[in-house]
Amino acid sequence: MKANFVEFTPEYYTGNEKIDKEHQQLFTIINRLYSAMREGKSKVILQEILDELLDYTIKHFTDEELYMLSYNYPRYHEHKRIHQELTDKVKQFRQEFMAGNSFISVELLLFLNNWLANHIKVEDFAYMRHIREVEKQKQMEAK
Ligand SMILES: [Fe+2]
Ligand SMILES: [Fe+2]
Repeated sequence: MKANFVEFTPEYYTGNEKIDKEHQQLFTIINRLYSAMREGKSKVILQEILDELLDYTIKHFTDEELYMLSYNYPRYHEHKRIHQELTDKVKQFRQEFMAGNSFISVELLLFLNNWLANHIKVEDFAYMRHIREVEKQKQMEAK
């Protein structure tokens, strides 16, 4: 079996160091969750990692939303709505896990893998393109 469930490779780089570090941290937490599940760690430990994942997800989404807002990103509300849906999904998984659904692990990992990869490459890349355009415009105006 793979040592890591998800690998933070250059295909996920957005070009913003702070955002990339946060994405990397999300990958790290998901890998920790994967290892803990694989090693049959206790429910308490798994809950702790799920809590950390939820907290860090909320932190990351808030940071991104402020960043997009500061650049007047036209799809801000749409992106924020997707963040909310993803957060709700993680909350829901956490609740189901706590309620004793033992099949949640595989589902959760697959879901997390999917949202991380797709959300970064599609939605995050899109707002980053907008930010780069705005920056380019600013530079041209400054000349
Ligand atoms: Fe992101
Ligand atoms: Fe995002």
